[in-house]
Amino acid sequence: MIELNDIQQEMLAGNHGRSARKAMEILATLGTIYGAERMVAVSSVQIAGVSYDNLGEAGLEFLSEMAEGGGEARVLATLNPAGMDVENWPALGIPPDFAAQQERVIAAFARMGIITTCSCTPYLTGNVPHFGEHIAWAESSAVCYANAVLGARTNREGGPSALAAALTGFTPAYGMHLDQNRRPSVTARVEAPLSGTAAFGALGKIIGERLQGLGEARLPYITGVDQASLEELKSLCASLATYGGAALFHMQGVTPEAGLHAPPDPAITIAQADIEATLQSLSDASSAEIDFISLGCPHLSIAEISRLAGLLAGKKVKKTFWITTARPTKQIADRMGYTQIIEESGAIIAADTCCVVAPIRGRFHALATDSAKACYYAYAKNRFKTLILPFDQVVEEALK
Ligand code: F3S
Repeated sequence: MIELNDIQQEMLAGNHGRSARKAMEILATLGTIYGAERMVAVSSVQIAGVSYDNLGEAGLEFLSEMAEGGGEARVLATLNPAGMDVENWPALGIPPDFAAQQERVIAAFARMGIITTCSCTPYLTGNVPHFGEHIAWAESSAVCYANAVLGARTNREGGPSALAAALTGFTPAYGMHLDQNRRPSVTARVEAPLSGTAAFGALGKIIGERLQGLGEARLPYITGVDQASLEELKSLCASLATYGGAALFHMQGVTPEAGLHAPPDPAITIAQADIEATLQSLSDASSAEIDFISLGCPHLSIAEISRLAGLLAGKKVKKTFWITTARPTKQIADRMGYTQIIEESGAIIAADTCCVVAPIRGRFHALATDSAKACYYAYAKNRFKTLILPFDQVVEEALK
């Protein structure tokens, strides 16, 4: 049984309100299941499970009850993407009744003091934990980024457990919070020159699937990657988490604690042919079949939007093209004139949402993207065919 300190016991007894009690019940149960001996204080939370498409009425009811029960965030807490652009949902073809329910979801979070960023890249919008900091994040791509790139410590929280951490300021100390679970156990030796978000996404898929094949929880130490940009790392994290369930990897020159370890035995090797075969395996749609294009899984950085504006300037897109990003990133794009250039091309900047969590099943047939994670969910959730291409070629596809 997990040991609780005075304030945690007070919460469990209901002295801090109905919602804090429910939240502590969730955390204590989770801690007991995973053999945690104590709780650890967290300084940052990221909550997933925001789209009404995934939550449904039962999820909305739970959130409303937590808000009505006096739930109040005790630490910095931000929100994952919603099922629509909160300010411009009609442009995405979102039905009004869906929009009304989505607005109720966001209002419930806001009432609890959760900052409604509606983005899966909290580290690009002011929720940036530092090395060694204990946090409680949901959203698997961001969890991997927080552990592997920022060196913070978080398990892969679910929506309710992340909300519970926000409302109490605690999470059970197990898994990624403990030193012994952060040691690498397999080396992933990359023997291919990698460049671009699509290639890094393919790398994540390969390593993730090989880890699954090893049969037990394995933590990779990636060698052979000389350089990786923020955008390439967010693509790698999204893919590794999607295909391998990984919450952490070590990479020389990237992961703050990688220097504490040597690359372990055994090793798996990733060659150029593996990357190419993987990109092919994610491409069952031909160019002629593509009727939907999306960039921004995970949400685009301002550097990517700047690049996109350069590629689209003075041109017209011929297919539905969603560019998904965080609202604060869009606001910088507005100021820089990028939004105007992009919108004049006919592409849509869809803030607050993405092509996976928006309710678009049945509306399209085949997606072109640079994201291995988006390919996975495009098929798994929406039954779309997919074509994965490098970033610039995705834009070319939209212009065809
Ligand atoms: Fe983010 Fe949606 Fe992809 S939440 S990581 S853009 S599936």
